[in-house]
Amino acid sequence: MADLSVNFAGIRAPNPFWLASAPPTNSGAQIHRAFEYGWGGAVWKTIGAPVLNISNRYSGLSLGGQRLLAINNVELISDRPLEVNLREIAEVKRMWPDRAVIVSAMVDADPKAWRDIVMMIEDTGADGIELNYGCPQGMSERGMGAAVGQVPEMCELNTHWVTSVTRLPVIVKLTPNITRITEPAHAALAGGANALSLINTINSIMKVDLDTLQITPSIGGRGTHGGYAGPAVKPIALNLLSELVTDEDVRRSGVPICGMGGIQTWRDAAEFLLLGATSVQVCTAAMHYGYRIVEDMIDGLSNWMDDKGFASIDDVAGRAVPQVSTFGQLDLGYQAVARIHADKCIGCNLCYVACNDTAHQCIDLHDPAGVRVDPGYDLRAGGKEVSVGRPRPVIRESDCVGCALCANVCPVDGCIEMVSVPSHRPHVTWDQLSAQQPAVTQQWGAMEAFRAENGFEIH
Ligand SMILES: Cc1cc2nc3c(=O)[nH]c(=O)nc-3n(C[C@H](O)[C@H](O)[C@H](O)COP(=O)(O)O)c2cc1C
Ligand code: SF4
Ligand code: SF4
Repeated sequence: MADLSVNFAGIRAPNPFWLASAPPTNSGAQIHRAFEYGWGGAVWKTIGAPVLNISNRYSGLSLGGQRLLAINNVELISDRPLEVNLREIAEVKRMWPDRAVIVSAMVDADPKAWRDIVMMIEDTGADGIELNYGCPQGMSERGMGAAVGQVPEMCELNTHWVTSVTRLPVIVKLTPNITRITEPAHAALAGGANALSLINTINSIMKVDLDTLQITPSIGGRGTHGGYAGPAVKPIALNLLSELVTDEDVRRSGVPICGMGGIQTWRDAAEFLLLGATSVQVCTAAMHYGYRIVEDMIDGLSNWMDDKGFASIDDVAGRAVPQVSTFGQLDLGYQAVARIHADKCIGCNLCYVACNDTAHQCIDLHDPAGVRVDPGYDLRAGGKEVSVGRPRPVIRESDCVGCALCANVCPVDGCIEMVSVPSHRPHVTWDQLSAQQPAVTQQWGAMEAFRAENGFEIH
């Protein structure tokens, strides 16, 4: 059986599934229960500066019947008394020596404030400290959270104030609300960070209610921007993770990265591991389904690793990283086309509409006798029987550019497959073309000649 244990910057845990600093890690009683279900670690709900949280602080995004595709929150850090949190952290760590107990902290940008909180955290026996540079609302207006994470100089300074006074591993949690994630990451490394984690929440306003005309969540008739998280943010988190793991300075530093943002299942977690994370954190999915999701996560990851022959998390971590490329490194000669598995097709014709209206008009409709029918064909028109059957989509592969729109709109899993086909085009990348034949990438006339010569037919 695969070994799921991790050693993350010296922080040991029986598995890579940790609860993120958020409502699921608000108190000792909660974390006791979470650990009973099997979570490998927990990052305590951020403690530090005094705050008061407000009512009606979450708003959910539902789409097509799927609840909580994303959550928006205007919550601040922990509003429980500091000494209560510290006492409970110590109790949890005492009772669960094999689990990772990490404390998230946020205080004023002041060396003494950081020193004081770090000393208190060290006294609890916790395994590590996570610096929350991500809160996008409330704390940032006070010069904390994203206000630190968005300014590399502040990020380095605050990190240095912590790393220079503690013996504990320090994880810097990055905000996604920034143009280049590598800048605060470099600053954190310069400040002595032992590890990085990402992503914190994305700045958002969830919606405006069309009945009440109020921003949601409405707090006594007012609304504000808050942090966006949950399954909808996973692709953004994966991309930011890929930017970190492919960055030369981050790689050279060797610091481990804890990935989060939209993880609901072991599959999501495995994707973060494949892209270079060595542990993961979960918040929204635990808020949606409760702590016991970790049981499926552990079983699923373990079985998948066994199937794939991966003995440890290190065997998985980063496997997909060598594929991460720039657009300029992609093969312009690669060709794929869409193929319909007729046995799975339910004849909804969504693919036909999508290709006809917004792609390359290369799906025809055939009637049950295999005769191509007009786009405007209506079985009920012209005296034909409705029972004749619906026309079926047939792809003209020679005209298909392989955009994959049809495969993405098709409601039946696996019904439309994108298959690579032999290409007679030269296998050249944009970067190579720019270097070898600069005129082709700079002038339309040269580009058209290049296409004609090399069989690039664009419809
Ligand atoms: C309601 C709520 C409160 C949060 N509070 C904190 C916090 O106190 N400190 C922190 O670092 N991150 C906080 N986060 C961010 C999460 O730790 C996590 O970075 C983010 O939700 C992305 O993970 P997810 O998609 O699994 O939810 C909070 C998130 C939510 C939804
Ligand atoms: S979208 Fe899929 S199921 Fe619907 S007609 Fe096209 S191939 Fe068939
Ligand atoms: S891949 Fe694009 S171009 Fe080809 S059939 Fe589908 S929608 Fe049309």
